[in-house]
Amino acid sequence: MKLAIVIMAAGKGTRMKSVRPKVLHTLGGLPLVAHVLNAADALQAQHTILITGHGADDVEAFVQGLNPRVRFVRQMPQLGTGHAVQQAVPALPDEGVTLILNGDVPLISSATAEALVQACQGQSLALLTIELADASGYGRIMRDAEGHIRGIVEHKDASAEQRRIREVYTGVMAAPTAWLKQAVMGLNQQNVQGEYYLTDIVAQAVADGLMVVSTSAPSETEVLGVNSPAQLAELERRHQQQQAAALMDAGVRLRDPARLDVRGRLSCGTDVEIDVNCIFEGSVHLADGVRVGAHCFIRDAVIEAGTVIHPYTHIEGDGRPVKVGPHALVGPFARLRPGTELGAEVHIGNFVEVKNSQLADGAKANHLAYLGDSTVGRRVNYGAGSITANYDGAHKHRTVIEDDAHVGSNCVLVAPVTVGAGATIGAGSTIGKDAPAGQLTVARAKQVSLPGWTRPVKSKPQK
Ligand code: UD1
Ligand code: CA
Repeated sequence: MKLAIVIMAAGKGTRMKSVRPKVLHTLGGLPLVAHVLNAADALQAQHTILITGHGADDVEAFVQGLNPRVRFVRQMPQLGTGHAVQQAVPALPDEGVTLILNGDVPLISSATAEALVQACQGQSLALLTIELADASGYGRIMRDAEGHIRGIVEHKDASAEQRRIREVYTGVMAAPTAWLKQAVMGLNQQNVQGEYYLTDIVAQAVADGLMVVSTSAPSETEVLGVNSPAQLAELERRHQQQQAAALMDAGVRLRDPARLDVRGRLSCGTDVEIDVNCIFEGSVHLADGVRVGAHCFIRDAVIEAGTVIHPYTHIEGDGRPVKVGPHALVGPFARLRPGTELGAEVHIGNFVEVKNSQLADGAKANHLAYLGDSTVGRRVNYGAGSITANYDGAHKHRTVIEDDAHVGSNCVLVAPVTVGAGATIGAGSTIGKDAPAGQLTVARAKQVSLPGWTRPVKSKPQK
């Protein structure tokens, strides 16, 4: 059976009170419309049509990058959901089934959408419905005494009695395409909002003798719409709870599932422990036995087995992952920036910043230091307060510190410069020339002591 999917995303989202189009607001780090498109993707429809309007340029640019097979149909002006589907009519085939999704109902699962398409069986109008404790704002499902669906009445058009109905339309329906096309063309604007309501096609189906069936959504979370910042925040929490539950099902030990945010993909090996208030963005992998302390921010990173990330550590890859080798210790209060690759058993301590640098196995920088654009060998010890001066105001230069070198405290390595294998750099040195392997290099003023020197004293005021 031919399947077409129409996603409505042209509305202004007035209640968001934002200049950004509603469907580009993010949930779990991903725009609402991307969630809907991901769910749609699994259904392998022949046509996927996105109705754009408000902020169309931005919405189309984003979706184009995500999935170039999506076709855009513009709705200008936006006269309601029925009017939105009218715009899609020329782009729809003549046979098969059309599934309609709302761009602002982001957590619909592909299984639920698939079940609705099955329920339609190519010949009836199938509505996804749910019973809500608070149905306010939603279209209510009107049934007759036998329980057959007769229509949908929008909240704003509903009488006090109708508003007591708890069963609502979720914004998701499937219908035979040929029938849908002629049904939407017959809609009018005779309602409180003066809009073309897509939901009016339900009464039309009844009049046409088309069977109207419903399937019930498996959870409220799947069908909640985003119309306001408060609803967005509520759905974000539910989405995070779902992700936390899935992680725990896979054996991850979360100290508190209510205090975790995953804005992207987090994959974990066995015996991973995550303390409270950590945020994961982009794509993060934590291998077996990794422990992440409280209040860490980790984006685009691969942390290998047995490594401990202490509290308040900030790790930020930029698409390319930051790599942390096995059995490393990082933090507290460490910052690993893009291009950082740490080998096995590397130690990065408090207030140490690493950028675009590779540290080989066993290297240590434990306190108050900066390593930028550097290549650091095995077992190097990089002293407290030392920095690489990697930027001359125009260009970045590399610093190479070879295996087993020790850089004392408070040194400045002025790049480009190489510290040879096994070299020792005396504390407080400013190193602008290569330091030979195996030797002590000191570059600071000689310490002098002056015997007999006395402090100046204040001269007495003259009487
Ligand atoms: C709609 C349904 C309501 C249902 C609810 C579920 C109608 C008339 N009402 O109401 O029965 O309970 O969804 O969430 O369909 N849109 C356009 N063009 C427009 C207007 C809207 O593309 O001219 C898009 C919006 O961007 C949005 C979706 O359609 O993604 C729903 O529009 P919205 O205004 O939020 O409808 P609701 O009032 O929530
Ligand atoms: Ca809505």
